[in-house]
Amino acid sequence: MMIVPPLLFLATAWLSTVVATDAVQSCPKISCAQLKAPNVPGAQVISINGTERWNYTVPATPPFLLNPIFGLNICEVDVVLTHPNAQDQVHVKVWLPLQKWNGRFQANGGSGYAAGTFDLTLGPSVQGGYSSASTDAGVTVNPLSPGAWALRPDGSVNLDDLTNFAYRSVHDMAIVGKKITEQFYGAKPRYSYWNGCSTGGRQGMAAAQRYPNLFDGILVGAPAINWATYVVAEQWPQVVMAEEETFPSPCELKAFTDAAIAECDELDGIEDGVISNPDICHFNPYRLVGSKINCDGAKIIITESVARVVVKMLQGPFGPSGLSLWYGLTVGAPLDTLANTTVVNGKRVGLPFFVNDAWIRYYLAKDSNYNISAIDYTKLGQLFSQSAAEYDDIIGTDNPDLSRLHSAGGKLLMWHGLSDQLIFPKGSIQYRTRVERLMGGSAKVDEFFRLFLAPGVDHCAGGTTTGAVPSDPLKALVTWVEEKQSPDTLPAEIVHSCSGAKMGRILCPYPQIAQYVGGDKNSANSFKCI
Ligand SMILES: *[C@@H]1O[C@H](CO)[C@@H](O)[C@H](O)[C@H]1NC(C)=O
Ligand SMILES: *[C@@H]1O[C@H](CO)[C@@H](O)[C@H](O)[C@H]1NC(C)=O
Ligand SMILES: *[C@@H]1O[C@H](CO)[C@@H](O)[C@H](O)[C@H]1NC(C)=O
Ligand SMILES: *[C@@H]1O[C@H](CO)[C@@H](O)[C@H](O)[C@H]1NC(C)=O
Repeated sequence: MMIVPPLLFLATAWLSTVVATDAVQSCPKISCAQLKAPNVPGAQVISINGTERWNYTVPATPPFLLNPIFGLNICEVDVVLTHPNAQDQVHVKVWLPLQKWNGRFQANGGSGYAAGTFDLTLGPSVQGGYSSASTDAGVTVNPLSPGAWALRPDGSVNLDDLTNFAYRSVHDMAIVGKKITEQFYGAKPRYSYWNGCSTGGRQGMAAAQRYPNLFDGILVGAPAINWATYVVAEQWPQVVMAEEETFPSPCELKAFTDAAIAECDELDGIEDGVISNPDICHFNPYRLVGSKINCDGAKIIITESVARVVVKMLQGPFGPSGLSLWYGLTVGAPLDTLANTTVVNGKRVGLPFFVNDAWIRYYLAKDSNYNISAIDYTKLGQLFSQSAAEYDDIIGTDNPDLSRLHSAGGKLLMWHGLSDQLIFPKGSIQYRTRVERLMGGSAKVDEFFRLFLAPGVDHCAGGTTTGAVPSDPLKALVTWVEEKQSPDTLPAEIVHSCSGAKMGRILCPYPQIAQYVGGDKNSANSFKCI
């Protein structure tokens, strides 16, 4: 899901010189066991342990790592550190290739409530030749719940842990990773990169805003920026269903997604099962009222209240005074993750998504038993204000001032699936627009920050994706950083699981959109950014 197979990319023009440098750098200067604790500003290193691993395997762990990785030869370094007065224990794991280091360092992000997933991202990174780091931020590696660390025994929020999770661990991991890399190979990494999606994307944005000198290139997918706001907005579909006393089944919701795609697919000039530009799709859910659909053998007639629920999910949350609080789900995106339901004693009831469920219970109610089903429109409005007031400064990650990143020469490549069913892509678009407004317009921002929207792609290119997925955005970023060749398009592809047919596309830097210009509909060459 969040794994982008990293590929070492070298242009033939300077292949010879770089290979020579790589060859010098690739050999360790000391043994793995000799590594010394690095100095980390603001933290104290408690222990370091380096162990050589030969022919090491990282087993497949779907959805994070789809295929196993065999035959890794690495120096595995475990560093434990703590912060003054925080009573925390942060684990940083660094993997260093014992052979053929490519001279680069890559820090990897996490997902959900995990700041990192260790082997699952370290494996692909070192396979690509990078020295790599991943961290648990001193919380846990459980992406599904912060239950073990959110609250202190006295019931107050553990702000030290939240700070580690939000941004401090990004700094610590990068410093540890880069210093250990330098000790081991006797040379600083030539370039350093961030790579993450979702929470990993949010962490990359924390680096861009708070620590602009840590990375030469930052790759950010479907970033969980605006966390304090959008996570509360993720609860909106559940509140709507409860307030309207209407809980559509996933099958009914899919009927709306399918109808929207059928109606708007061709507006972009090509019928491919994907809405390329949701902004020009004016799908009206009420159109389906009265139509019969087949759900698990039963015939269901779409009611007006089901259509009203869908309309509200697409509109997004509104406060009591009618003020829009955040964006809604994109037309054509799956609705049944945030609006999931289950049947209890023959009755369909709401099933909140775990991220918003945990955020509201632990961080807003500060009560793990809080009854989230009882939230109504008024209460949700209050939770929005409370969440922003208490946490935006810590975990917002949406500061549009990227001037320090720009002057440090850093490059930021962001991509977001337009069918993201969890993190509203409009948040990424809004962020890019705010950066433009602050920093002198689109062309100026394009020099160092580009956003690529991926039509039909779901959260971090997960299982319901129907659109072309960026093939190798890290390669595009490396080329941008090292060869000063900016990405004017991103190659993207999807292989349809049933037919095996490949659909090639280009993704365009926002606000451009890929337009079909004739020729093979499955070839990326038949598209142009306009
Ligand atoms: C270092 O790691 C190795 C392998 O995991 C372990 O066997 C050893 O006990 C560790 N040493 C220390 C001092 O923690
Ligand atoms: C490496 O490990 C694989 C199993 O993952 C094993 O089949 C192979 O024999 C090992 N190779 C060496 C050189 O030990
Ligand atoms: C809805 O919830 C069920 C039960 O937890 C889960 O198995 C299913 O994957 C969820 N559906 C979606 C689309 O997330
Ligand atoms: C939670 O709230 C819902 C909706 O108001 C209510 O039906 C349910 O009984 C409550 N559950 C508990 C355990 O209080």
